[in-house]
Amino acid sequence: MIALRPVRFEDALPMQALARRLIQDGRGMVQTLADLDDRPAAVEADMRSWLAHPSSDRLRLVGMAPDGRMAAEGSIKRLGPSLLRHVALLALGIDPAFQGQGLGRRMMQGLLDWATDPPAAPDGSRLPVGRVELYVRADNERAIGLYRSFGFVEEGRRRRFVRLVDGRYIDDLVLALHLPA
Ligand SMILES: CC(C)(COP(=O)(O)OP(=O)(O)OC[C@H]1O[C@@H](n2cnc3c(N)ncnc32)[C@H](O)[C@@H]1OP(=O)(O)O)[C@@H](O)C(=O)NCCC(=O)NCCS
Repeated sequence: MIALRPVRFEDALPMQALARRLIQDGRGMVQTLADLDDRPAAVEADMRSWLAHPSSDRLRLVGMAPDGRMAAEGSIKRLGPSLLRHVALLALGIDPAFQGQGLGRRMMQGLLDWATDPPAAPDGSRLPVGRVELYVRADNERAIGLYRSFGFVEEGRRRRFVRLVDGRYIDDLVLALHLPA
């Protein structure tokens, strides 16, 4: 059974390795390996910066296999501008070896639980999340099926947004979930 938990500093390098495996697999991705900065200092600096934010602002979950391998990573974070703080952006990646076993569904549930009942900010205030949004390649049927099953609806189609290395273009969808807030 894969255990889900919030990310820790020591997850930085394994998370980078997971990103590498996802990119090598290619399905659903918009990056190539050239986009990864593999220098450990840079990877760890990114993680330090992520962890500096309070839990009211963002959540990153990892899924850990019993042998210690990282099987999944997902995040949800509020947008920065003051008038957009009720909007949260969600992203998800399951190791190709662990896909199709219900892990994506469990990760989504964990991330949406945070959005439904976000922790109080350091000053004690509680700002609800009213809108969760994500971007997905129009050819990513599995991901779209998963998101729709949680109530996400298509709000936009960015035509020819992705240009593959062979020159083909793929549309990209903007999906959103509206929460009572
Ligand atoms: C897309 C992804 C997150 C789904 O996670 P997963 O663990 O493979 O999916 P699950 O096993 O939890 O399946 C969840 C749902 O996906 C949908 N699904 C699965 N396979 C599908 C398929 N071939 N076609 C359509 N929907 C499908 C179903 O709704 C399924 O629900 P069910 O539990 O009722 O059967 C995962 O495959 C992944 O990380 N892919 C690569 C990276 C990526 O695409 N990330 C998302 C970018 S926006």
